[in-house]
Amino acid sequence: MNYNESARLGLERYQKDRDALLLAIESSCDETAASVLRGPREVVSMSVYTQIPLHRRFGGVVPELASRSHVEKVGSVVADALEKAGITLDDISAIAVTSGPGLVGALLVGVSYGKGLAFAKGLPLIGVNHLGGHIAANYLTYPDLEPPFICLVASGGHSHIIEVLDYDRFRLLGHTRDDAAGEAFDKVARALGLPYPGGPELEKLALTGDPKKYPFHSALNHSAEEADFSFSGIKTAVVNLMHNAAQKGETLSKADIAASFQRAVCDTLTLKAVHAAKEHGFNTLALAGGVSANRALRSSLARACEEQGIRFCCPDFRYCTDNAAMIACAGHYALMAGQLSGLDLNAAPDLELV
Ligand code: KG4
Ligand code: ZN
Repeated sequence: MNYNESARLGLERYQKDRDALLLAIESSCDETAASVLRGPREVVSMSVYTQIPLHRRFGGVVPELASRSHVEKVGSVVADALEKAGITLDDISAIAVTSGPGLVGALLVGVSYGKGLAFAKGLPLIGVNHLGGHIAANYLTYPDLEPPFICLVASGGHSHIIEVLDYDRFRLLGHTRDDAAGEAFDKVARALGLPYPGGPELEKLALTGDPKKYPFHSALNHSAEEADFSFSGIKTAVVNLMHNAAQKGETLSKADIAASFQRAVCDTLTLKAVHAAKEHGFNTLALAGGVSANRALRSSLARACEEQGIRFCCPDFRYCTDNAAMIACAGHYALMAGQLSGLDLNAAPDLELV
């Protein structure tokens, strides 16, 4: 039997077996991750190797180093996920892998490895969109959550307000016109002298600052009717504030700047996302992407949703930043919808969700 026939039969078996196990691999940026999933939402195991210490001294992700590290680690991370699940590759019925968006060299490692495993075992293979994975992190956290709902995806590369029409059908309602939310956090953190990745460090610093000290106003961000938003202006305002103070020999409280910046980002995302949910008649709003780990954003959205009678969902902390369990979940639903990738699956650095 050739590979395509075997994969097609494997897909039919997978769709019929509620206890079938799926192995997922994620390598789109600076985390090498693998996970075993049973059925749609039961995470049997997960393994994440983070490259943060590797990139820290450069102040950001160095793509070439990321690719090399993925090559070194992907085998042991997959082995670790299988071992934690107490199984071997022979127990796996399908393979899911992030195929984009992300760094091309990094993506290629996971895609090649996933294809190799699928071919060697004659298993069905599915390429997964990384953003679709972030959205699916909510399904792992809320067993009863089903589309349709509105999802705010805020990560290092994207800030999108998305209508989740079905497990594999999305519509873009609004997005950032320049920097992604995570990118803005990282850039401002760097200006404040914090180490990479800046988001979590800035959040810590903001805890002791005054969020009302500097009102970073923007007409676009304060208009609820305008679905798009922008973060590069806030970032520039922070940099100018620090620059002017330095020229005058003044010292500003970094904690106040961090808290005020975080508040401006949270206010904008909350205003736009809640307005989108109301305007399009949704009673559920979910948050996804690395920035969903930010407690200030989680509570700002939770508060606004409560006021409007909207259900608010956000992923369990272990599913917020890059991991393979969310990729497994999105892959499962794609396979159940009859989608299958061939061995010509390629890394797609600019892959769009909508
Ligand atoms: O989803 P993710 O892990 O990778 C991408 O798909 O981009 O998101 C990483 C981004 C980084 O910009 C990081 O600084 C940000 O998410 N991030 C946070 C927090 N944790 C991660 N930003 C603000 N507060 C956090 N606690
Ligand atoms: Zn991500």
